Amino acid sequence: MRVLVLGSGGREHAFAWKIAQSKMLEHLFIAPGNPGTAKCGTNVNLSINDFDSIRNFVINEKIDLVVVGPEDPLVKGIADYFESNEQLKSVGVVGPHKNGAQLEGSKEFAKEFLINHSIPTARYKSFGSTDLAASYAFLETLSPPFVLKADGLAGGKGVVIPDNINAAKQELKEMLQDQKFGIASSKVVIEEFLKGIEMSVFVMTDGNSYKILPEAKDYKRIGEGDVGLNTGGMGAVSPVSFVDETLMRKIEDRIIKPSIEGIRKDGLNYKGFLFIGLMIVDGEPFVIEYNVRMGDPETEVVFPRIKSDLLSHLSAIAKGTLDQETIEIDDRSATTIMLVSQGYPEAYQKGKEIMGLEHTTNCLLFHAGTAIENNKLVTNGGRVMAVTTYGNNMIDALALGFDNVQRVLFDGKNYRKDIGFDLI
Ligand code: AMP
Ligand code: GLY
Repeated sequence: MRVLVLGSGGREHAFAWKIAQSKMLEHLFIAPGNPGTAKCGTNVNLSINDFDSIRNFVINEKIDLVVVGPEDPLVKGIADYFESNEQLKSVGVVGPHKNGAQLEGSKEFAKEFLINHSIPTARYKSFGSTDLAASYAFLETLSPPFVLKADGLAGGKGVVIPDNINAAKQELKEMLQDQKFGIASSKVVIEEFLKGIEMSVFVMTDGNSYKILPEAKDYKRIGEGDVGLNTGGMGAVSPVSFVDETLMRKIEDRIIKPSIEGIRKDGLNYKGFLFIGLMIVDGEPFVIEYNVRMGDPETEVVFPRIKSDLLSHLSAIAKGTLDQETIEIDDRSATTIMLVSQGYPEAYQKGKEIMGLEHTTNCLLFHAGTAIENNKLVTNGGRVMAVTTYGNNMIDALALGFDNVQRVLFDGKNYRKDIGFDLI
């Protein structure tokens, strides 16, 4: 098969790394990719939102399957674009159509879906820019802290959790009236705060059947002990130690099955990954968000635990034959530690030379924000590289990971030393 992966982060490097191992692969392209993906296939200088250029490339290179990494092109309708084009109709796309992508593209849509299909989630109401007074009244019915979510995509920054009502009112005004997150906060979902422990499950679906991938837990805050600003993710572990068979059964019966059934009943065109963010409250799972793609850095621990042929699974998703696939999982633990640039998630410098990769051992290095300048590997983003390691348990995997983290050197290297701390 001739395959095109869209995206340029650590997640896409993990896709490329795994797809490159498939016997079914004839050639892999990654657009735009990064220096890590360049080792797995051919990077192509295309923008992920430039559908016309992607179309031309796919036709010229006779691509059979397009795998969409990030949510943006999905929410903008890349799967619909392929289906409506005569020359692209036969090309498989892994990623939902625009209607399915609304599960991530609109928090209000996701909440309505959850309620309509009786899937456990926090109580909520949504408000538009003319509803400020009503939104304040709803706040009064809740107790702090308050969860305020911009309806649309806000680059992972759209959720704010003020701990007192005055701060919540001020925040609501900024979101709804001052468009703090632009058009994304012209509607806001206010929901009840759920106190518990977070984890995520990942499901592949062809719209009818589904397969559950290994669960994971990521570490979103910049600071140790889970404090400070939100980031794209500073590390992840899989499996998650507190997830036993009883909890997994509840998650499958109460959340995964009704989600896939709901997608079918509502006629959403969905062939791709569904990433379900969960809050476990006293042993009971609640959905806090859907994403219509894999997570980053969760992919960097989930895919290394898949032993079977990912490309076979991806092709089956696109063809609608996922029920015929068998997914084999590695029992070992995988952990990943994200190396980030000093200052991230706020302002940071780029262009710092990265050295020492040749001294790492028994680890997978997934590039995120890296580039080649004057034949040297340099930093090119806030999240620079994910260091993934295996172990017989999480602690062993992390020990190997932290050892390797010391060997990768660049000016301003920062990382969390406490990945997995809450699970020990
Ligand atoms: P989201 O983008 O919806 O995942 O929200 C970002 C983060 O906000 C989550 O990872 C949670 O830590 C937190 N969060 C979201 N919804 C809730 C909720 N209802 N109760 C408590 N925390 C929440
Ligand atoms: N790590 C969280 C995400 O990919 O949304």
